[in-house]
Parts: sequence; C-alpha cells; structure tokens
Amino acid sequence: MPPTEVAYQQCISPSCGAQYGVDEARINCEKCGDLLDVTYDWDRAKPPANLRDFEAMWTRRHEPSRFSGVWRFHELLPFAPIDQVVTVGEGQTLLQQADSVAPYVGVKTGGLFLQYEGMNPSGSFKDNGMTAAFTHARSIGAKRAACASTGNTSASLAMYCAVTRHMKAVIFIGSGKISYGKLSQALDYGALTVQIAGDFDDAMVRVREVSQELGIYLVNSVNPFRLEGQKTIMLRVLEALRWEVPDWIVVPGGNLGNSSAFGKAFAELLQLGLIDRAPRLAVINAVGANTLYELYENRGLRWNAGVDDQDTSATYYRELDATQRKASTLASAIEINRPVNLRKCLRALETCDGVVREVTDQEIIDAKAQVGAGGIGCEPASGASVAGARKLVAEGVIQPTDRVVCILTGHQLKDQDATIAYHTTDQERFDKVLGTRGVKRASFANRAVAVPNDLDAIVKAIQLYS
Ligand code: F0G
Repeated sequence: MPPTEVAYQQCISPSCGAQYGVDEARINCEKCGDLLDVTYDWDRAKPPANLRDFEAMWTRRHEPSRFSGVWRFHELLPFAPIDQVVTVGEGQTLLQQADSVAPYVGVKTGGLFLQYEGMNPSGSFKDNGMTAAFTHARSIGAKRAACASTGNTSASLAMYCAVTRHMKAVIFIGSGKISYGKLSQALDYGALTVQIAGDFDDAMVRVREVSQELGIYLVNSVNPFRLEGQKTIMLRVLEALRWEVPDWIVVPGGNLGNSSAFGKAFAELLQLGLIDRAPRLAVINAVGANTLYELYENRGLRWNAGVDDQDTSATYYRELDATQRKASTLASAIEINRPVNLRKCLRALETCDGVVREVTDQEIIDAKAQVGAGGIGCEPASGASVAGARKLVAEGVIQPTDRVVCILTGHQLKDQDATIAYHTTDQERFDKVLGTRGVKRASFANRAVAVPNDLDAIVKAIQLYS
C-alpha cells in the first residue's frame, strides 16, 4: 500500500520495503516476515528545524499531551493527531549526573549520567512505549491487548488498561520468572494473568499465536508503535544535556526494543539534520541471556545493509535447543534468549557504531548496589548498564573523559528480593536468591545491625557504626 498519510508502516528489509497503512495492526511484514517500522513522510510531517524548539512545549504543561515526556516530542512521532493521544503523564524522568557512581564506573566527575526511567507511572521505561501502542490501539478500535512479559511490560499494560478503560489486558508470564513487585502490579490493576509453564521465550511464542487467533492487539515490542514512544527516552537525554550529543548510551539488552528504538531515534535525527553525529551505543546482556553478545561479538553477525543472515542466528538457536539451554539470570527482566528485535538492534548498532558486552550476575548486582548507594536505586536489569559501562572503561573502549549515559530501566522497588538478599546477614536467604545465580559476595552490602532492646546497647552500636 503506498503511503497516503504522514506516517505509514514499512518492512525494515531494504530488499522488500513493503508498506502498510497506520490503520492496520501488524507485527511483521506479510510478504517477507521481517519486522516493521513506523516511517514518516517528513516533507508532510514538518518536524521542527531545531531541537531547541521543543523547549517551548514546557510552557504548555497544562495540556496533558504536552505534559507527557513522550508527547511533548509529538512532532518526531506524528503517527496520530496530538489531540488523540492516550497519556497518563508518562516520561517525567530525569537525567541525573551521578558523581558518586562515576568513580566506580571509571569516568571523570561530571561524566556519568543515569537516565532514571524508574520514575515512570508504572515504575519502568515501558510506559514510554505503552502510551504510543495505546494511542495506536485506540485509533483502530482495539478492545483487548495482550503481551508476554518478564514483568514490566505487563505492569505497564495493566496500568494503562485500568486507568484509561479503553481495553482489557491479557498478560502471559512464565512460571516463577517474574518478581513479585511486578506481578503484584498486574494483579492489582486487574489484568487477566495467564501463567504458562515455561519461560519468557515460550510465553512470547504463545502470545503471538493467541493474539493472532483471537484478534487481540499485541503490545510487545514487535509492535512498531511501541518503539516510537521509546525513542523519546533519547530525546529527553538530549534535552537534559542541552541538546549536546553524549559520547555513549549504555542500555541493558533483553528483547532489544530500547536499543532498536534509540538507534531509530538517532537515525531520524541525523536524517533531519537535527544532530550532527550519533552517540555510540553499548548494549549489555547478562551472561546467562547473551544471544546478542554471542551473535554480534563472537559470530560477527551484522546488519549488513539489511541482508538477512538467517543462518547465523538459526544455527545459534538450534544449538540452544540441542543443549536445552534456557535463559538464566538474576536480572529476570532481561532473562531472554530469543530477542524479537534482533534485526532492528543490529541496524541500531550500525547507526551508532555500537558494541555489545555481557556481564555476570555478580557484576550486575554489585553495580546495582553502587547505583543504590548513589541514592537513585534500580532493579537488577538496570544495573547491567552500569556494570557494562564499567567493563568498557576497563577495556579502554570508553575513555575516562567521555560523557556516558547509562539507562536505568526500572525502579528499585520492582525487585526487593534481590536487594534485601544482597544486604542481608541471613546466609540462607543470600544463597537462595543470589547464591544459586553464582553470586558469591555482596561487595557493597549495608547490613542491618542487630542490637538488644536496651538503650545503652543501642547508643553503643550507633557510636560504633556511625
Ligand atoms: N530493563 C528492564 C527493567 C526491563 O523490564 C526490560 C524488558 C529490559 C531492561 C530490556 O529491554 O527488551 O528493550 O531490551 N522487559 C520486558 C518485559 C521484556 O516483559 O517487561 P529491551
């Protein structure tokens, strides 16, 4: 279908390039099966000539759509009219200069920034994408929405359904693979929660089948509209840096939606002449869920002008099956072996001269503790970005003088088990939650001090420890 509007959907494979209207709900190309982008006819869309023009939107914060940290950048994701967006005030997130964490990472004071997406209404970056998917879903009259989730997508979907009452939520989660903080959100917000015997990768396969069969709108990040919203995380980073492009963006990699969205954001900003260079992108896998690392760094898989090298990934997936290797990391949010956005992420890595690294659960949980000690707090998966940045500085890939932005994808209270087990004096608890993941020590534990219920003893303890 030729584009008739400002926006259309387009197959990402350059050799196919099939186009579909934005009035369709699709998760892949009908002709070749590849992923879809939302693409804009920028001549018609008329984006601003200068990123500074967005600063004027702050004066319009009384309008819900301009209050939103996603929709105040509407001109760069104009697939729906501004007066028809669905918003719950997402994207009020901060870029924090993290001087107390900088020495741990190994960059100079003033060089480390943490983009704290845990401040979103459902406590993770997912709300950036969900507001966009909801806007699209409402525009096409969808009544039910589904997702497979390691917890945050489901919390976000359930919240948007409950607040807006536009759709009913159906969520698929793997057994025992989701933190209680996230599960409690979905249950509280009233989502139909289907717990399948399997992991996230299994749930992802099923939710695609079920949504196809029952005509339910799918909000996983294979939905190209989700990624449009997630582009704005980068716009807010640039805004906070007064529109100066940082040297590095470091992000945890799970299903690879964020990295894909960030790459698309920078490709479009370059295309529009709104920035003159892209930052470098580092995507960080957990060792126990390292498909991207394995394919990109060890087997040399690249975007390669969009030529789909299915052999390399298919061989790898066959090996996973043959050895029955399932994803396994304490950072349950990124416990994913078959990332649905792999191809888009490869494209993003090319746009941003990217690198991929893997970090152990020990490195993740220690980095998370350092973030916490710096007063921000995040869930384990987010710690991966800081652990990854530290590794890249140690390798000499990131320079100590670089400006580095690590994305903290989810709130600290999402996964209290991991935090409490880290700081506990109860060895059994430590072993159960962390030891089983190969975590040997809590390098930065802040242990509670047990004292008798006695004034002298309490005073002594405070004098001793403070
Ligand atoms: N960090 C957190 C806190 C997440 O919840 C996720 C993904 C990621 C990182 C990975 O992001 O998929 O864009 O590479 N969580 C999904 C979910 C899979 O179901 O909540 P990605």
